[in-house]
Amino acid sequence: MVLLSAVLLAQALSAAVSEPPSKWQVGRFTGVCESISQAVSSASSVYWPGSGEAYDADIFHYATSSSSQAACSVEPGKAEDIAMILGILAENKTPFAVKSGGHAMNPHFSSTSGVHISLSRFNEVTYNAEAKTAEIGAGLIWDDVYAALEPHAVNVVAPRMSRLLLLLKFTILKGGFNNFGIVTKFLLDTHPQPEVWGGSLTIAAEFFAEVNAATAQFSQTAVDPKAQIIASYGYAQGKLISSIMLFYDDPEPPKGTFDAYLVIPYLAKDVKTRSFLDLVRSAPSNGTQGLRGIYHTVSVIEYTDRVLNAIINETSFWGERLASGPAVMAYSSEPFLQTIFSHAAPNSSAYPPNRAIAPSPLSISYAWNDSSADEAMHSAARESAGQLTRVLSSEGQNVKDTALYGNYAIFGTPLERIYGSNLPRLRMLKAKYDPNGIMGLTGGWKF
Ligand SMILES: *[C@@H]1O[C@H](CO)[C@@H](O)[C@H](O)[C@H]1NC(C)=O
Ligand SMILES: *[C@@H]1O[C@H](CO)[C@@H](O)[C@H](O)[C@H]1NC(C)=O
Ligand SMILES: *[C@@H]1O[C@H](CO)[C@@H](O)[C@H](O)[C@H]1NC(C)=O
Ligand SMILES: *[C@@H]1O[C@H](CO)[C@@H](O)[C@H](O)[C@H]1NC(C)=O
Repeated sequence: MVLLSAVLLAQALSAAVSEPPSKWQVGRFTGVCESISQAVSSASSVYWPGSGEAYDADIFHYATSSSSQAACSVEPGKAEDIAMILGILAENKTPFAVKSGGHAMNPHFSSTSGVHISLSRFNEVTYNAEAKTAEIGAGLIWDDVYAALEPHAVNVVAPRMSRLLLLLKFTILKGGFNNFGIVTKFLLDTHPQPEVWGGSLTIAAEFFAEVNAATAQFSQTAVDPKAQIIASYGYAQGKLISSIMLFYDDPEPPKGTFDAYLVIPYLAKDVKTRSFLDLVRSAPSNGTQGLRGIYHTVSVIEYTDRVLNAIINETSFWGERLASGPAVMAYSSEPFLQTIFSHAAPNSSAYPPNRAIAPSPLSISYAWNDSSADEAMHSAARESAGQLTRVLSSEGQNVKDTALYGNYAIFGTPLERIYGSNLPRLRMLKAKYDPNGIMGLTGGWKF
């Protein structure tokens, strides 16, 4: 009987596509949603819970723990409507979320029980061949941007992995998250994009010593900015496994660049000359879709053999203890060149606060399926980062003064650990651009 009423209720709700909830269902924020619905232009829409695909797609996140049942979702169609919406939210002190692609995994960084703002209608890529620029809507994921630019054989400087969103950030303050307002489009320089070389290798645990040696060598000796790797250790279904992403920004890497990896026996290999878009799409980036999840991070200056062994130990230690059912624990090393931050002026972005050091973020990523395990997983991620920090310190790596990457850092991380000495300046800018603290009603790192 309960089940039947639930089904009938679901049918009733899905019939009411654009109708606001009936009286018995009115929640705390329904009135605010109605005000928004009346105020916005015809370019924008408001969707109610249970109304169907648009609402579901708006609040969807690949990590179920990063999705919340919002009072309504709003798809603004133009910037003027966003200003109007923010005015109504501010007046009513209504919590809200802003979501473009949905990459951050911290709970409530892009989800809310209040008003969910989806940027999905800002979804255009306009290439200007003369100016060598591309205007990019903030609701896109990078796959779509790469696909739109590929016919022009150009690209923008952007992430290597599939499905990453465009982060909310101000041009004057890259890395400022959503503290200053809502960005609806970006103007980026384009660069010629040749075919590239790369893909993934999957390697069994018996060859981890060889993987470590290759990663240590790459981390310590690489000088070619066109060469990049992501070396991951993962635990799933009772097994340890390594997955290596190799990338070279030309059709063939110079001889020797990745040999230390390529001589290791593999379980699977998908490495070849291909388009950039094909490479990005080949990365298995949605393997944990439908599970709960969290990221955390430590910043590594150099991947030594001892550091890499500690990472393997963490993967198996927490994997064996916590990864039951469809859980996945993964630790990914992303060794950057020491010169990576040398291309921009010292204070040109919020992160990293110190461009003289080039910390490589090790991403700690856990996925699981049972909400009762949330706390255990969160505290394991914190404990694991603590253990790795101790190992790095004992190796003489200056982890205390090295900023943590805000896209990976777990909620509760002190802002000083992400923004360091930039924080006072960021707080000043926040006071200037958002004097009434409207953006404080949404989740994320708050200055
Ligand atoms: C991941 O994406 C691919 C390609 O879009 C799709 O075929 C596959 O079903 C997805 N996997 C999950 C777990 O959603
Ligand atoms: C492995 O990791 C666990 C958890 O951090 C730690 O307690 C233990 O000392 C580590 N073992 C080695 C051999 O490093
Ligand atoms: C960067 O900002 C810091 C702190 O706000 C300031 O002390 C420093 O002079 C700035 N450096 C440059 C090169 O502008
Ligand atoms: C988690 O996954 C296991 C194994 O697939 C399944 O038996 C269990 O019901 C799942 N739990 C939840 C809360 O989804």
